[in-house]
Amino acid sequence: MKDEELQAIASQLKKPSGEKGIEMGNMMNETNINMTRHSIENLNISASNKILELGHGNAGHVEFLFEKAKDLKYYGLEMSDLMFQEARQINRNFVSQKQAFFSLYDGNKIPFEEETFDKIFTVNTIYFWQKPEELLSEIYRVLKPNGNFCLTFAEESFMKQLPFTQFEFELYSIEKALQLVEKTSFKIIYKETLTEKVKSKTGELVDRAFTTIVLEK
Ligand SMILES: C[S@@+](CC[C@H](N)C(=O)[O-])C[C@H]1O[C@@H](n2cnc3c(N)ncnc32)[C@H](O)[C@@H]1O
Repeated sequence: MKDEELQAIASQLKKPSGEKGIEMGNMMNETNINMTRHSIENLNISASNKILELGHGNAGHVEFLFEKAKDLKYYGLEMSDLMFQEARQINRNFVSQKQAFFSLYDGNKIPFEEETFDKIFTVNTIYFWQKPEELLSEIYRVLKPNGNFCLTFAEESFMKQLPFTQFEFELYSIEKALQLVEKTSFKIIYKETLTEKVKSKTGELVDRAFTTIVLEK
C-alpha cells in the first residue's frame, strides 16, 4: 500500500469523516467490541452512576453499558462530528429518554464541572491524545473523589506491526502508559494485558495484545 493510502487510514482512525468514516465507525465498533466491553466491565458500574466516555466512535456499545445497572447516565465526548452524529442516531432512544448525552469537544479541555462523574473510560484513543498529561489531569478534575478511570489500548508490540500506525499514532506499551500515569495524582488499582484473536485486514485471525489500566482518584 502507498504511503498516502496508509496516511488516509490513520487519519480516519484518528477522526472519522466523510463517506468512508461511517464504514470506519462500524468496522471499529465491531473489531474493538471485546476491548470496549472489557473496559466497561472493569469500571464496576453501579446504580445511578454518571459515566463519561472519551472517543466513543459510533457508540454501538452503549446499550451494553446500560445493562450493567439501573438509572445510569452516559455522557459521550468526541472530536469527530461524524461519530457524534452516528452515535446520536444509533442511540436515539437513549438520547430521547435523557439517559445518553453526546457532545463534541477539542480533545484537550473536558467541558464539564469538577467532580461530575463516578466513572470515566476510553478505548483506543490514547494514541491520538495531543497533550497526554493535560488530558489525564482534566479526567482527574471531572472525576468524583474515589471515582474510577479505565484506560484501554492495544499494545505497541501489536500496533507497530500495522503499517498505518507510522502516521498519526503515538504507540504505548503498558510500561509507557504507567510512566505517564505516575506523573499524575491517580492511584493505580488494577492493570492487565490480555491477548485476543482479531481478524486482520486480509481476513486471517491474529493475536492482539491489549492493556486495561484502572485508576482511582
Ligand atoms: C480508533 S477510534 C476508537 C473508537 C472506539 N473507542 C473503539 O475502540 O472502537 C478513535 C476515536 O476517538 C476519537 N478521538 C481521537 N482523539 C480523541 C481525543 N483526544 N478525545 C476523544 N476522542 C478522540 C476519534 O474521533 C475516533 O472516533
